[in-house]
Amino acid sequence: MHLSVIGLGLIGGSSCAAIRGAHPDWTITGYARSIATREAALARGLIDHAADSLEDAGAADLVLIAVPMGQFRDVFAAVSRGRHAHTLVTDAGSTKGSVVADVESVLGAMPAWFVPGHPIAGSEQSGLDATNAELYVDHQVILTPVTSTAADAVDTVTAFWRDQGARVSHMTPTRHDEVLALTSHLPHVLAFTLVHALSDDDEHLDIFRYAAGGFRDFTRIAGSDPVMWRDIALANQAAVLVGIDRFADRLTQLRTMIASADQDGLIRSFERARAARELFKALSEQGAQHVTESHPSVFQVRAGGALTGRIRVPGDKSISHRAVMLGALADGVTTITGFLEGEDAIATVQAFREMGVVIEGPTEGQIRVHGAGIDGLKAPQAPLYVGNSGTTMRLLTGILAGQAFNTVLEGDSSLSRRPMRRVAEPLGQLGANVTTSASGTPPVVVTGGQPLTGTHVDLTVASAQVKSAVLLAGLYASGTTSVTEPAVTRDHTERMLNGFGVPVRREGATAFVEGGQRLTAAAIDVPADISSAAFFLVAASIVPGSDLTLEHVGLNPTRTGVLEILKLMGADITVLNPREVGGEPVGDLRVRASALRGVEIPASLVPLAIDEFPVLFVAAACATGVTCVQGAEELRVKESDRIQSMVDGLSALGVQIEGTPDGAVIQGQGLDARFRSAEVQAHEDHRIAMALTVAGLRAPDGVIVHDCANVATSFPNFIGLARQVGFALDVRA
Ligand code: S3P
Repeated sequence: MHLSVIGLGLIGGSSCAAIRGAHPDWTITGYARSIATREAALARGLIDHAADSLEDAGAADLVLIAVPMGQFRDVFAAVSRGRHAHTLVTDAGSTKGSVVADVESVLGAMPAWFVPGHPIAGSEQSGLDATNAELYVDHQVILTPVTSTAADAVDTVTAFWRDQGARVSHMTPTRHDEVLALTSHLPHVLAFTLVHALSDDDEHLDIFRYAAGGFRDFTRIAGSDPVMWRDIALANQAAVLVGIDRFADRLTQLRTMIASADQDGLIRSFERARAARELFKALSEQGAQHVTESHPSVFQVRAGGALTGRIRVPGDKSISHRAVMLGALADGVTTITGFLEGEDAIATVQAFREMGVVIEGPTEGQIRVHGAGIDGLKAPQAPLYVGNSGTTMRLLTGILAGQAFNTVLEGDSSLSRRPMRRVAEPLGQLGANVTTSASGTPPVVVTGGQPLTGTHVDLTVASAQVKSAVLLAGLYASGTTSVTEPAVTRDHTERMLNGFGVPVRREGATAFVEGGQRLTAAAIDVPADISSAAFFLVAASIVPGSDLTLEHVGLNPTRTGVLEILKLMGADITVLNPREVGGEPVGDLRVRASALRGVEIPASLVPLAIDEFPVLFVAAACATGVTCVQGAEELRVKESDRIQSMVDGLSALGVQIEGTPDGAVIQGQGLDARFRSAEVQAHEDHRIAMALTVAGLRAPDGVIVHDCANVATSFPNFIGLARQVGFALDVRA
């Protein structure tokens, strides 16, 4: 591979050093405007050759352009003149909209061979002298491909940065610029401005002499390269101006609070900031684990020994979301234990923080939600971004329908493909104004200030999320809201509303709630998630000799379809120590390996096991005889099309499986099932990733599962627990 790096400052030079270590066999050409810099890079062994011109530097397999933003356009034009037909080009610029505009102005359109990128090095140093082979280790690199960018070009550039130890994520150029304006460009502008303002003072030498750690920490980044930051501020002008205006408004409000000695206002503001900072710390710690161990994106698993031990899988996702939501709307402080510290539930926490709710934690599964009261939510400053979490988006839409303010809900690429009209339409029947994109997908736009009227809603899909959205909107409606579901779905919202002092009456398939009531804070103990336990229930069933106990699992009868289906298949599962905790039945599950048999899955159990089908397909593949799933068309609109994802994955392992519009027919391989070795895709879907990993336990030569990073959304310690009970599992970023 021939790499060419243009710009031999901190960014380019560090990439050369890191690639030297990762790929000693690569040839590296370097170019810098100054001959002295080129010679210094040669002398240090960072590059093999110095190019004499930008055109020469373009003639490589991969070209990294790492020059100040102001020079990008001219450099790119020269590189595109010098490149070979197969050359891929990427860049390291801190703003991406301007890079796309520059490329389009040179070539007329974005070519397939250019992948815009931004390594977030987080160093205020600059120049070749600061070069550091470890600069990108555990740091984020954001790639912003557009529709015309070739997929294999994105793969090559992704691998290029991962090889340097970075965490790579993908987003659109616009989203990148909005995010970076707030998280990087604004803090730099503020740091420069604060130090500048203080240095206007004639006494500034004295001020600086007495300045303590706070000044040093806050102003460290004012030591960054002024030319680079001038270019960035101008290249991302519009988004930076939005950030400055937001900041100026807040500062004015704070000034008023101080001037009027508004003690409560100051506490609220500082508390909110502190909580946000804690969340940031938690997220960056989780992020760091992503690379090192916990949530890498490639899982390698193979058949090993029996699975044994006692484990407690993380807290129930559905209950964790609801506890935060109801806690936020309640009067008083809600305490939550056993909370799922996965990305989905954290997205709910963050959304309520954006709406002014003070939330402490999570720390070791504990959270304190300082309820804002039923009418206490405040308008968020920007669209609420809820990541991969469909539950957050749909339930929140119900709550937002009753607010006085407008909101926009956005999600990641998987969530942005999922259907949202199913909530918009029923909420419309109550008088809400909720719109989606033309194809019915996010963003969801909720126009507030609409009076809601209690009414009866007949649901056409069996969805607990939609039922919950209607009941939550019903809290804000006049009179009675009732909702009839076509099949029984999980009833955590109903149970928890009862626990918060708002009775939900049930008559057959219909739930009723009265509007205009207040919620009272509660203490919620979240049981372990049966949907996460399911991976271990199937794993222990299909690996000979296994004997595993899963502790404190939620056994709400609207969630135990997986147990009933596995028992029909002949699984050996015993419920030990059944008890009730906070209105939800709980027990320990002991599962031992057994001979499974194929079954026709009864339609009534489908909604009660909807999240467990990916791993149930794996159980079916290890059973004797045929398993038939029908009436499960909902699987096609989950985090991925779960029927197709499992058909693709299991077929690659040699399983005979046929997808149907609403299910699948699976020919089991029986007690001696031995799956073929293969590389399979999880399609950004946490449950597909874990289900295919379980399948790998019957593959003597191993299975490689790609695209598993989203396991962190529901099961952050999956890898640790899987290894603890005996999975032969290796992982890499
Ligand atoms: C959930 C309901 C289900 C489930 C999801 C969580 C909930 O979705 O698949 O993981 O917490 O209400 P649907 O309501 O779309 O079936």
